Amino acid sequence: MLIDSHAHLQDEAFQNDLPQVLQRAKEAGLEKIICIGYDYESSAEAVKLSRKYPQIYAVVGVHPHDAKTLKDETIADLHKLAREPKVVAIGEIGLDFYRNLSPRDVQEKAFIAQIKLAQELYKPIVIHDRDAHQEVFSIIKKEKAGRSEGVLHCYSGHLPLAIDLMKEGFYISFAGPLTYKNAKKTVEVAGKIPLDRILIETDCPYLSPEPLRGKRNEPANVSYVAAKLAAIRNKSPEEIAYLTARNAKQVFRIND
Ligand code: NI
Repeated sequence: MLIDSHAHLQDEAFQNDLPQVLQRAKEAGLEKIICIGYDYESSAEAVKLSRKYPQIYAVVGVHPHDAKTLKDETIADLHKLAREPKVVAIGEIGLDFYRNLSPRDVQEKAFIAQIKLAQELYKPIVIHDRDAHQEVFSIIKKEKAGRSEGVLHCYSGHLPLAIDLMKEGFYISFAGPLTYKNAKKTVEVAGKIPLDRILIETDCPYLSPEPLRGKRNEPANVSYVAAKLAAIRNKSPEEIAYLTARNAKQVFRIND
């Protein structure tokens, strides 16, 4: 049984055929899908989906791209949303210094405010980090963000940073880029970190794995990430599915 630990099923890319997408996920052996918000509205949508579908869980938060939309009252609204029973974490939050769609200082403020929110709620966090490895890590350390654990989603850093993050209490999640031909560094990380700290995800509708690159991604395709990780670790895909699902349940504190 597989868990897609990071999907954006509320994205408009799925508005016409979500039931079919979920059916294909079921046929591919997916047990659960963690649906991740990126602003207030998409977080509320994720919660709605989690109410409607037993296999869907929600994560609520404001993405660094949308950090400029985070107001004091947004934190209060997220707090309310996060008290829904199937909200398993705060995210995705973090820093994106590649696209800089919100000013850097605004991103940092939003990241810290949402770490504090997660600590208040005793929830883990789901972190987005693009071209901001050092800055993300120093905020994590300073705010003791690992206290309630969390996930570094779609990990793209090098091995020493992954080890430091694990020491702080984080899990490392791999997405479609693990299957790409130029993924040498990521493959190296996936080959060396302990199997009890790894999650897998699609980040759909983005980042389709090989051989589906360029197409819309969907949760069923997490099986390609599992297969690639299995090849790297010399395990069966079933073993990888079991271990990564167990890890996801552990970090998101899902008991069934
Ligand atoms: Ni995402």
